[in-house]
Amino acid sequence: MDQLLVRAARGERTERPPVWLMRQAGRHIPEYRELRDEHTFLEAIKNPEIAQEITMLPWEYYEPDGVVMFSDILTVLEPLGFSYHIESGVGPVIDDPVTGPADVDRTHDDVSQKLDYVGELLVRLNQRVGEETAVIGFAGGPFTLASYAVAGGPSRTNMPLRRLRAAHPDAFRTLLEAFADVVRDYLEFQIGNGADVVQLFDTYAGALTREDYEEFLLPLHQEILTDLNAPSIVFVRRMGGRLDLLEASGADVVGLDWTVGMGEARDQLGNRPVQGNLDPSYLFGEPEFVRKKTRAVIEKAGPSGHILNLGHGVNKDTPVESVEAFVETAKTTER
Ligand code: CP3
Repeated sequence: MDQLLVRAARGERTERPPVWLMRQAGRHIPEYRELRDEHTFLEAIKNPEIAQEITMLPWEYYEPDGVVMFSDILTVLEPLGFSYHIESGVGPVIDDPVTGPADVDRTHDDVSQKLDYVGELLVRLNQRVGEETAVIGFAGGPFTLASYAVAGGPSRTNMPLRRLRAAHPDAFRTLLEAFADVVRDYLEFQIGNGADVVQLFDTYAGALTREDYEEFLLPLHQEILTDLNAPSIVFVRRMGGRLDLLEASGADVVGLDWTVGMGEARDQLGNRPVQGNLDPSYLFGEPEFVRKKTRAVIEKAGPSGHILNLGHGVNKDTPVESVEAFVETAKTTER
């Protein structure tokens, strides 16, 4: 029988909501911080043994219904010819960012060779987790990846990429298409190596106008997500009032950030499966508060086609007890 998480992703009614957390394998876990004292971030993600160990840390703490491979959305920069590293206090830094329209024509190397360590990690995870736990793969979306490639690092407003759209629309399109091509290959590669579910993180794409989103990005989301061989989830922040754009993405499941009302989402999306959407900051409240707010999300979402998650990644300072309270609330839901 399929895993609970896969069944919910297909829209089935489940005896309780499956649960996992975006960014569950990271700095809020003490053993992660210890491992990171010994290895750089890139060393850790490129070594399947270490990456497996980190992936399994949240599972050992909480037994969520899915383990999300320990990796990063930026791995696909390398097959496209970029190099990057993570600087503490800054975040990801691209060593050779796109500097102008002359620089956007990119063909990508074979992902199964360049990202062979991700394939190996997924194979290992499948052997490690029991049949009931889903292995979750993921990739960044074209807008979010291009934002890093053009800005050279994190950009709160994504202005460098939005400037490219205004000044050089053809270059903007070419760059997004290059990312879409590599991401489609990459997700198929992940599924081929055992990912049970995949999530597309186009986290920053809500910065686009509706018109630009429809013209440039939506067709690429469809190209990436339509007819994959496993259920898919799409996640974009700041899409309240524009859920139709996620509904049209080709993903099976619509990810909701915490600003979207679960009731509103259900009204707009009908019985389309959804994922989310507890405010990650709520995990800084008392466990009883976490339980109460989590129950409210579960009740509003209803019994069919809901994957419980946060509305964005877990914050690095989040107390372990809060995550415990969150996961346990899903696991003790009775219907
Ligand atoms: O969900 C998971 O646990 C799986 C792993 C995962 C990471 N990053 C691990 C990571 C996933 C799914 C991501 C996605 C990601 N990475 C996104 C999209 C989703 C989102 O949350 O917005 C983006 C934009 C990135 C790019 C990136 N990589 C950022 C913003 C950072 C954090 C920089 C910082 O210092 O806060 C990274 C590094 C990174 N990726 C870390 C982890 C655990 C921290 C590395 C460390 O310092 O140990």
